[in-house]
Amino acid sequence: MPHSPAAWWRTASIYQIYVRSFADGNGDGIGDVAGIRERLPYLRDLGVDALWLTPWYVSPMADAGYDVADYRDIDPIFGTLAEAEALIGEAHENGLRLIVDLVPNHCSDRHPWFQEALAAGPGSAARERFWFLPGRGEHGELPPNDWRSYFGGPAWTRVTETDGSPGPWYLHMFAPQQPDLNWEHPQVRAEFEDILRFWLDRGVDGFRIDVAHGLTKKPGLPDVGPDPDPTDLPYQDTDGVHDIYRSWRAVIDAYGGERVFVGEVWLPTPDQFVRYLRPDELHSAFNFEFLCCAWEVGPVREVIEQTLAAHALVGAPPTWVLSNHDTIRHVTRYGRQETGFDMGDKRHGAPTDLDLGLRRARAAALLTLALPGGVYVYQGDELGLAEVEDIPDDLLQDPTWERSGHTDRGRDGCRVPLPWSGDHPPFGFSPPDAPAEPWLPQPLVWKDATAEAQSGEPGSMLSLYRTALTLRRTDLTRLPETVSWLGTGPETVAFTRGDDFACVVNFSEAPVELPAHHGVLLASGPVTGGLLPSDTCAWLRLAPGAASDTNAL
Ligand code: NOJ
Ligand code: CA
Repeated sequence: MPHSPAAWWRTASIYQIYVRSFADGNGDGIGDVAGIRERLPYLRDLGVDALWLTPWYVSPMADAGYDVADYRDIDPIFGTLAEAEALIGEAHENGLRLIVDLVPNHCSDRHPWFQEALAAGPGSAARERFWFLPGRGEHGELPPNDWRSYFGGPAWTRVTETDGSPGPWYLHMFAPQQPDLNWEHPQVRAEFEDILRFWLDRGVDGFRIDVAHGLTKKPGLPDVGPDPDPTDLPYQDTDGVHDIYRSWRAVIDAYGGERVFVGEVWLPTPDQFVRYLRPDELHSAFNFEFLCCAWEVGPVREVIEQTLAAHALVGAPPTWVLSNHDTIRHVTRYGRQETGFDMGDKRHGAPTDLDLGLRRARAAALLTLALPGGVYVYQGDELGLAEVEDIPDDLLQDPTWERSGHTDRGRDGCRVPLPWSGDHPPFGFSPPDAPAEPWLPQPLVWKDATAEAQSGEPGSMLSLYRTALTLRRTDLTRLPETVSWLGTGPETVAFTRGDDFACVVNFSEAPVELPAHHGVLLASGPVTGGLLPSDTCAWLRLAPGAASDTNAL
């Protein structure tokens, strides 16, 4: 079915809920479904269109739920299937669509299939659903190939058979507790189509697909070698992956209600990336090029141009994303000297000017919300939260910390439970009558960043997001998708969409003059005398007759 131009997801603002850190309903210090249900009015009032929930399935939590042991049930830490069903219904009642996270590249080592494979022994049919291969070396003591896990260390673990003898190795591109599934196997394909139907039948509006570029592997699982070509790796973006999405698309299209797939597609070139967005594959995918881009005028303009051009080739809407649960929060990134993001070198602890980072984050929020397409807001973006960089070593939970031999502190700093209210931890994260310690410690400075402290404060990040998301919905999503650059000087990113709207961001250190306009619809900082301060974004009305300076700070 061709992309429908009016579909909701083409212009949606989608809020990412990292379930274990959003809100704790039962007072054990871990976020859960009950907590989300209580906070639905907050999300409705924020003005987003949809929610994406990180995995909530039964899991031993070796990778915070991205190691799934039962795809058709909810982990007791998060609640029950009945509560999940209630949440889906209540989200809809609040005008919010709900997208769940699907993890098809790997399951948990506690998944019944993997347990069965271990028990069934070498050469068994049960092992064919995974990648069990004999080791190299005289006694099979070396891994079958040279692939490295994304979390550090080899991507293979050797099995000890039930009789105690050393067996073959199995592939895990992430932690050893996350064995990769063999997508050549028909049962794997059938199982996931059934899982899709299970959740579609329960009313979900779509799926975020984990590691969407990685499901199939190059035949023979060849070595990558010492100097691999990043555009041609044997464990990502191999041709077979597209067949999977074509068959999934047929499954989802058989349901009404414009349900969607959003791919987590990390690939080095736009050409590879947009192939996932052809009309019979995924509906959209996260724009990691934009997330990783430095806060600098040239790169930002270039990434926007490149994004728009690449998506136009396949008729898919672009998306804009600043942060997620795997990255360094952008308030922190933008306050550093190196403002780009690199998954391989997260620059933990680099000197940071958080005031500068926050100013830029405000501008970036308005920039992303003004561009055509979809936009993702990671929980806490709307509160202007910075990365938490002082979590004690012994409290770190991300497997990256151990797997990297304590060289990469991992992703816990962007996963700290949200501050809702009050002036001390847990800042309303847990119910007042059961104020458990949050699963990761919250910094005391968050007393000024709580949703409560920022509500009704006209200059707060929360107020900016609320106003911007509302204006986006009422006015901006109706604008023409075409972006026309405005010649406002080399230090600005400025564009129009139609005759009556312009967005201008000043990347220089000095104020710049705004182009001729008839009113400031919204600005991320003070606009006076027609001057736009450094690291500030303004939305302008260009046509006469519009209200003047309505939302300028
Ligand atoms: C991407 C997810 O976003 C990340 O959190 C997870 O660790 C890996 N995929 C493995 O599932
Ligand atoms: Ca809880």
